[in-house]
Amino acid sequence: MLRVGLIGCGRWGRMAHIPAWLRDPRCQLVGVYDQDPERISSVDGLEVVGSAEELIMSGDVDVIDVVTWNPSHYQYAAAAIAHGKHVLCEKPVHHNYRLTQELADRARAAGLRTKVGFTFRYSAAMMRMKELIDEGWVGRPLVFNGFEQNSQFLDPAVPMRAGEDPTTADGQLRAASLEGYGAPIIDLALWFTNDRPVELVGLLTNQIPERAQPGSGALANLPVDDADCFIGRLAGGGFMTIQSSYVTVGNYPGLEARLYGTEGAVICRLVEEGGITERLWVAGKDSVEFRPVEVPERLLPSGGSLMEPWPSSFYSNLVRDFVTDILAPDRMAGGDFEDAARVQEIIDAVELSHQQHRWVELPLAAWAPLK
Ligand SMILES: NC(=O)c1ccc[n+]([C@@H]2O[C@H](COP(=O)([O-])OP(=O)(O)OC[C@H]3O[C@@H](n4cnc5c(N)ncnc54)[C@H](O)[C@@H]3O)[C@@H](O)[C@H]2O)c1
Repeated sequence: MLRVGLIGCGRWGRMAHIPAWLRDPRCQLVGVYDQDPERISSVDGLEVVGSAEELIMSGDVDVIDVVTWNPSHYQYAAAAIAHGKHVLCEKPVHHNYRLTQELADRARAAGLRTKVGFTFRYSAAMMRMKELIDEGWVGRPLVFNGFEQNSQFLDPAVPMRAGEDPTTADGQLRAASLEGYGAPIIDLALWFTNDRPVELVGLLTNQIPERAQPGSGALANLPVDDADCFIGRLAGGGFMTIQSSYVTVGNYPGLEARLYGTEGAVICRLVEEGGITERLWVAGKDSVEFRPVEVPERLLPSGGSLMEPWPSSFYSNLVRDFVTDILAPDRMAGGDFEDAARVQEIIDAVELSHQQHRWVELPLAAWAPLK
């Protein structure tokens, strides 16, 4: 039985992580911590500890789950690895892709598994899309289009999330929403094309310049990249386009992945409409009319259905995959810190491209990120 300690009992911790750990019979949630006593008091039936360090250093914990605000992800993940714990960490692990890679290397050297909150690769429909690609349905990938967008911050009266400060000393936009919000569609682009961009050009924009401040509700200037896009040329000759925005009309979670290849095409759309979030279509080179494909029940979490709320459904699959990785040391892992470093490198390159108005080559060997 794997023993899990969770840090951060906020909205996402309670909506996605805790239900997923409780659902997997191979593990036990042995302790939780949050720096906010009010948050802790709203978690029922779980053992609450006095500090994050208590969980990280405990000999009775095998896995640490970090669901706190972004600035503490790296610090907790690094400490957990140093104390021999497997780590699930929300994205981003760190703003700097090199530090993320370094942590991935440290975990591997210590024989530890890592996993990042790339939630949408664990939707049953996205998992089926990957199977179809691996079975050869698409052939050689030519074009990938990825969208991660919804209306979450279209209304300026909606305050920015607590714990996030996207402002920079030089007044330049940085890749903040692309990092905290767009990262999973970049992860899917790399997973589905099984390829990496060798160069890219990107644009960060701030479409809603004023936003309510948490607490007072007064509008203030908030220079955040609320709508971004980039084009990447893939090593294999194809290309990828990514659009990420939380000021774009549409429902949650708001992902669409389209892969077109030499043999066929697959489109997966994760947008909650009429209670269903996961939809998949295919077309072949000789049958170009797109037709819906069923999302197989075997890919849903145990006891789940297509009507289950997506946060617990997708996260239960994520946790199930992570627990399987930990229990099967020879299994090829995915969605880990290594993958997070590749995603972060692309995000850092998009920021550089935007700031310097130019194409940027990858890998970013010679560039020290600004953050
Ligand atoms: N993977 C996804 O799809 C997804 C979706 C939503 C949120 N998230 C990520 O999950 C994380 C949490 O988001 P949320 O929406 O739950 O925010 P939240 O504000 O509702 O909850 C965060 C909790 O962490 C606690 N916390 C913050 N810093 C801490 C620290 N240093 N030590 C201990 N506790 C600390 C806060 O008190 C709060 O209770 C963020 O990184 C966010 O980006 C990921």
